[in-house]
Amino acid sequence: MYAVFEPVSIGPLKARNRIVRSATWLGLADPGGKVTDEQVERYRELGQGGAGVVITGYAAVSPEGRQAPRMLGAWDDGHVEGLARLAGVIREGGALAGAQLVHAGGQTRSAWTGGLAPVAPSFVDHPQFPEMPREMSAEQIARVVADFGKAARRVRDAGFDFVQLHAAHGYLINQFLSPGTNQRADAYGGTLRNRFRFLAEVMAAVQAAAGPDFPVAVKLNGCDFVPQGLEEDEAVQVAEWLAQRGVAFVEVSGGTPASGDRGPARAGVRPGEGEAYLRHLAAAVKRRVGCPVALVGGLRRIETLEDLLIEGTADLFSLSRPLIWEPDLPARWASGDRASARCVSCNGCFGPGWKGEGVRCVVKEEQETPTSSSGTGRRAGL
Ligand SMILES: Cc1cc2nc3c(=O)[nH]c(=O)nc-3n(C[C@H](O)[C@H](O)[C@H](O)COP(=O)(O)O)c2cc1C
Repeated sequence: MYAVFEPVSIGPLKARNRIVRSATWLGLADPGGKVTDEQVERYRELGQGGAGVVITGYAAVSPEGRQAPRMLGAWDDGHVEGLARLAGVIREGGALAGAQLVHAGGQTRSAWTGGLAPVAPSFVDHPQFPEMPREMSAEQIARVVADFGKAARRVRDAGFDFVQLHAAHGYLINQFLSPGTNQRADAYGGTLRNRFRFLAEVMAAVQAAAGPDFPVAVKLNGCDFVPQGLEEDEAVQVAEWLAQRGVAFVEVSGGTPASGDRGPARAGVRPGEGEAYLRHLAAAVKRRVGCPVALVGGLRRIETLEDLLIEGTADLFSLSRPLIWEPDLPARWASGDRASARCVSCNGCFGPGWKGEGVRCVVKEEQETPTSSSGTGRRAGL
């Protein structure tokens, strides 16, 4: 038995091993953000696939906070029943079930929000998105903080083991943390402590609404990799403040859609090449906090996880794209088949998602189609 596959405590929770399926939008919810049968089957596979923890794709806390076609919703009590089906199949498979909550802020378009105008901390352009967001008033901030609380209560009612707040990848919480996107002159802008205020209020609202015993995790950028973005030293300070507030674990990510080739899901990672590209950020956070730290980004070999665990870089290891091809990768590794993840990090999985067909591995599909030659042609066309 490898240490990666030994049970681990995460606050009050116990996971069967240290592998986390990081939050991954599957683009399979119905247009109202409700869970579909196809989605339930995908989570059943993931639950049975051997990961210790499975986190859902991001679920929007408010209708204007939606970010992508067919994403999950958690803004209405009508979402609870479907979310409960996801929590149920994940837990039946033996994994801990986490639900991720997000508000996209300025990183969306009204085509995805049902026509609602994007809102953000400041009247600042988000170059990858067509509309200039409206600056949030103090009342709007209070409303979204409350929305996070209510959504977390729904997640708890649905039977999840914990909730994860998406504070990374340039979405609303990240927009408040980063000086470039937060140019407010009030109590929410300026110093790092002020830029942290929104996240602190969200965390407090979640703890109040879902109860102090319901674990809250946070996915945080260790660095935004954009000019005027959140930098490593500030991110480490934010992680420390989260730990002081009882965060269950911090998942360290990095980058936003504006970070070019240093975005959250980097292309071209191969086993042994460009793996664990955020390890230095996770290590920096781990040196400062007592809570468990998860590392995400380019983990492709079981040996890499073992080395990082021995080095003390992280406690938990999160994978997204490899589990789109192989939802049972953790079980395969645990069984002694230590071959690397098959994922080639081409990001072709996003394509069908944007078309509304659901995220899936196009390389695997080509390999399984007898008439196709290989996945290479498709990847070159991306
Ligand atoms: C199709 C797809 C959807 C994703 N959706 C989310 C999401 O909903 N929430 C999130 O925090 N990260 C999301 N991510 C980012 C992953 O969780 C992860 O941070 C990133 O892909 C790097 O890990 P990997 O190299 O194991 O793929 C997504 C990534 C992909 C490829």
